[in-house]
Amino acid sequence: MPRLLPYSSEKLLKLQVNSPDYKGLMTAEQAKEDFMRRIENYAKQYEPLDELEHESLSFIKVINAGRSFKVHQVRGHVQSRVVYFLMNIHLLPRSIYLTRHGQSEYNGMGRLGGDSPLTENGQKYAAALADFFEEEEVEGLRVWCSQKVRAAQTAQYLKPDFHTEYWKALDELDAGICEGLTYEDIQQRYPKQADDRAADKYHYRYPSGESYEDVVSRLEPVIMELERQANVLVVSHQAVLRCILAYFYDRSLPELPYIDIPLHSLVKLTPRAYHCDSTIYALDLETGQVEFIYFKRCKGA
Ligand code: F6P
Repeated sequence: MPRLLPYSSEKLLKLQVNSPDYKGLMTAEQAKEDFMRRIENYAKQYEPLDELEHESLSFIKVINAGRSFKVHQVRGHVQSRVVYFLMNIHLLPRSIYLTRHGQSEYNGMGRLGGDSPLTENGQKYAAALADFFEEEEVEGLRVWCSQKVRAAQTAQYLKPDFHTEYWKALDELDAGICEGLTYEDIQQRYPKQADDRAADKYHYRYPSGESYEDVVSRLEPVIMELERQANVLVVSHQAVLRCILAYFYDRSLPELPYIDIPLHSLVKLTPRAYHCDSTIYALDLETGQVEFIYFKRCKGA
């Protein structure tokens, strides 16, 4: 009978002992014994896949929680993406922090897109964000920023020893001919565009610009890399962060463009075994502090 897991793997056992199936319910010793019994039962119930016996089947074996893989008869785009995805996920504890840039001059005027700098309040948020991460003491934090001035300025006061990268893929949804306009301008100049967008916000593409659907597809490498990494802070924009959050919150496509992400708030996502913890912080302009607002448990990722 092939062993499904390396019985000697202390790391895996430790992960299991801390999993929601066991934590707080029994001692570590009892959890280990139960887990070993569980594996024995799996071995009785499941039939191991074998490349000779099951020559024509497509399958992927993930061995030792991703230390090695056996990929058999994988064909086509979707199956290869699944292999790529499985090769990038990990079980180690970590957090992903997501924030929009601080208030920009265009935000202040209600204008879409552009590349304007931060307002005074936006600068306050940038400073408070840096203080927050001083206190949070996140190990090996990586900062991923869009290439827009307002995003770079929001990250400017963070400790220089955080590794920072500027991703074009994190730039805001391109509003095409509507860039720089307010929603009222669009309603007046392009009423049909405004109606079409309201009818199907996820699929609507601005003339010479992008749709949410386009943004989701350009974010695929970012999401894959987020799955691979440990602690990351993403400094980006409303539409882009809605797409990333929809993935972690497991939201439907029609819901995605309406996820609420106010300016000057920070989302901390902590993926768990069967759900994702989400803690929201926001800047209190009076105190200049980024403070805890609420916690929710999401069913996604
Ligand atoms: O208004 C800020 C902004 O980031 C714009 O640049 C962008 O076009 C918009 O939000 C996206 O939000 P919505 O899809 O709700 O218009």
